[in-house]
Amino acid sequence: MRGGRKPGNRGVIERYLPWLPVTESTPVVSLGEGSTPLIYAPKLSERVGKGCEVFVKYEGLNPTGSFKDRGMTVAVSKALERGAKTLICASTGNTSASAAAYAARAGITCAVVLPAGKIASGKMMQAIAYGARIVAIEGNFDEALAIVRALGHREGFAIVNSINPDRIAGQKTAAFEIVDELGDAPDLHLLPVGNAGNITAYWAGYCEYHAAGKAARRPRMIGFQATGAAPIFRGEIIVRPETIATAIRIGNPASWAQANRAIAESGGAIDVVSDEEILAAQRWLASTEGIFVEPASAAPIAGLLRAAGGRGESRFTASSIPVGCRIVCTVTGHGLKDSDVIASSIRSPVPIAPNESAVLPAIEAMRS
Ligand code: F0G
Repeated sequence: MRGGRKPGNRGVIERYLPWLPVTESTPVVSLGEGSTPLIYAPKLSERVGKGCEVFVKYEGLNPTGSFKDRGMTVAVSKALERGAKTLICASTGNTSASAAAYAARAGITCAVVLPAGKIASGKMMQAIAYGARIVAIEGNFDEALAIVRALGHREGFAIVNSINPDRIAGQKTAAFEIVDELGDAPDLHLLPVGNAGNITAYWAGYCEYHAAGKAARRPRMIGFQATGAAPIFRGEIIVRPETIATAIRIGNPASWAQANRAIAESGGAIDVVSDEEILAAQRWLASTEGIFVEPASAAPIAGLLRAAGGRGESRFTASSIPVGCRIVCTVTGHGLKDSDVIASSIRSPVPIAPNESAVLPAIEAMRS
């Protein structure tokens, strides 16, 4: 690691150096990512019952508002070490925001290839603000990734999608943090699945810590896809994936095989949640636990609430939840990234007279 320690936040490379593919000559590009809060969720625990404890790993508090920053610090540092001049990625939004920020930090170019019209506005604003070269295609994420794979091997380019193993290495630090905080791995780990890099990374992290004796057990990995974009659940490529949770609108995940391995080795499962369940869970988590996440991030919460309520025919059900167990749900991105989804379902308050005698009755009229 080049350069002396400066005061300020430690990023994941500094915190977990021995576990990462970083050497003395790696120029570390960091924005102080990681060390996100693991928040105990009392209402969610109550809904699950059986004496279970549920924790939410709030990855929306990373520097660009999503878990991608953990992998990006490692991928960009290594790309710089290898002499890359241009980062390139396909994205449903968060990877592009993160890549653009770390490229800006490193002083190199970032090119992002995005599905036109399917990127949440906050994520697009980020890519613009960080100065990325943005190319929108008339196609979906899977097509964008195919283009990036073809272009990315040119001299001076570095692909920073999760097909880059440095991304996975960085993202596994979230599992380390959870074990460091809880003293062991949880019994169940729930998370949304899109391109399947994150489930792969968490499983790698849990396995490494377990092998090193830092955790006595490994969790069952439970992944959630959206009903209209559920290739792993259905066991087939979805040519035209559709979901309101645009972050996970993916029909042919790059880390499909690795995700299946994580599920099989951990005794876990992959399940689906509908867009309605996702939106209801997003609102519920914000209004009940005070944690505002983007729609994709609410997928595991939706799956857990459904299982706890004993509703529906699904792979993850009440009987999948042992008595007295510890559950961690990763919520991957901040709610402010996708404000349109909330804005579309609310009416803005109608302005009233600027005095107490008008405001108090207005507040009381809303009591319901
Ligand atoms: N949650 C959010 C908020 C995401 O942005 C993504 C992926 C996922 C979950 C799924 O993670 O792909 O590792 O299974 N977003 C990518 C992107 C595809 O381009 O930002 P995964």
